[in-house]
Amino acid sequence: MYGLNQDCSKVLAEYLKSEEYKELELLQSIIIDFVLNDQILAKYQPNWKFRKTFLKQIISILEKNNCEINSQIYDSYIDLINSSECLSTKDDQKYFVVFFSKKNINEKPIVIEQFANAITNGTTGLHIWPACFQLIDFLNRDKTLLENKKILELGAGVGLLGLHCLNSRNINNYIFTDCHSMVLKQIETNVLLNHDQNKVHNNSCRDCKSGDQEKIISIYELNWLELEECTIFKDNTNRDLDLILATDIIFDPDLMSALSKTLSFIWSNQLDSRKLSFYIASTIRNEKTYETFLENLDKEGFKFEILDKNLASSKSSTPDCFIEILKIFK
Ligand SMILES: C[S@@+](CC[C@H](N)C(=O)[O-])C[C@H]1O[C@@H](n2cnc3c(N)ncnc32)[C@H](O)[C@@H]1O
Repeated sequence: MYGLNQDCSKVLAEYLKSEEYKELELLQSIIIDFVLNDQILAKYQPNWKFRKTFLKQIISILEKNNCEINSQIYDSYIDLINSSECLSTKDDQKYFVVFFSKKNINEKPIVIEQFANAITNGTTGLHIWPACFQLIDFLNRDKTLLENKKILELGAGVGLLGLHCLNSRNINNYIFTDCHSMVLKQIETNVLLNHDQNKVHNNSCRDCKSGDQEKIISIYELNWLELEECTIFKDNTNRDLDLILATDIIFDPDLMSALSKTLSFIWSNQLDSRKLSFYIASTIRNEKTYETFLENLDKEGFKFEILDKNLASSKSSTPDCFIEILKIFK
């Protein structure tokens, strides 16, 4: 998955290395047609810092090569550096990221609105974390894992993983959960950005259902520390789950007991828990916290299997950590 915000400079650098893009006139027209005049990007603008760096790089390359610069590129740069978002000193800025599929550029892109800072308003949930991309890549390798599954996600953040799963034709029922009111609101915003608004029949934050392409998308508050408040399984609903997913939720040792109890609670509320499994991708920032998580799983009678382990990719903010994907089951 290419996030235009994160990966565009890398893609551009690759283009410039390759012989066919030595034609700088061609490069300019590609940038004008596919970046500056692109309708999706005009509507869902990436982070201003990214746009500024991008335009600055282009101008510098063209200047170095004595290429006459198209005025639209200069004007875009001048407009941006004088814009209110660029001049603002507020540190709680939101922006869009448009994600394209690596495999199929014609696949519907996913639009995500997120905050620039990794921690905003006391939560880590308003920004996408690196393990999310790893789990998406892993799930892409074996499409059958998701096929016709009813999925619940824990600590869903801004909702990229779920929206990626819902892009697959075979996923018709996805439940996003999180504990923070702003995060739940942001999931709802992102669901509505990607699914037909006219068909959403209940968009309250607790249970937002979209009838888009007959997909049932729900958003529930689920705080691992307040399971008694949880309404997900009320009235016998959602007792037929196939998969639980989560990314980057192992960071606070004090939450690990509550998390494994939440898993037991979900398992005990299923009509047939034998078919249920939990796929979790975690950035191992602190070995001890990760061990606490595994010990608590063991206490609740869960087993696990390591499916994948990689050094975090260079686009992540934590390059020296491993990201591990586990399958957890009973
Ligand atoms: C580091 S963020 C990861 C967000 C997202 N999964 C991602 O990978 O981008 C951790 C998430 O766990 C959620 N969370 C933290 N404590 C929680 C709790 N007690 N119950 C439920 N969710 C919680 C946060 O609101 C946040 O969305």
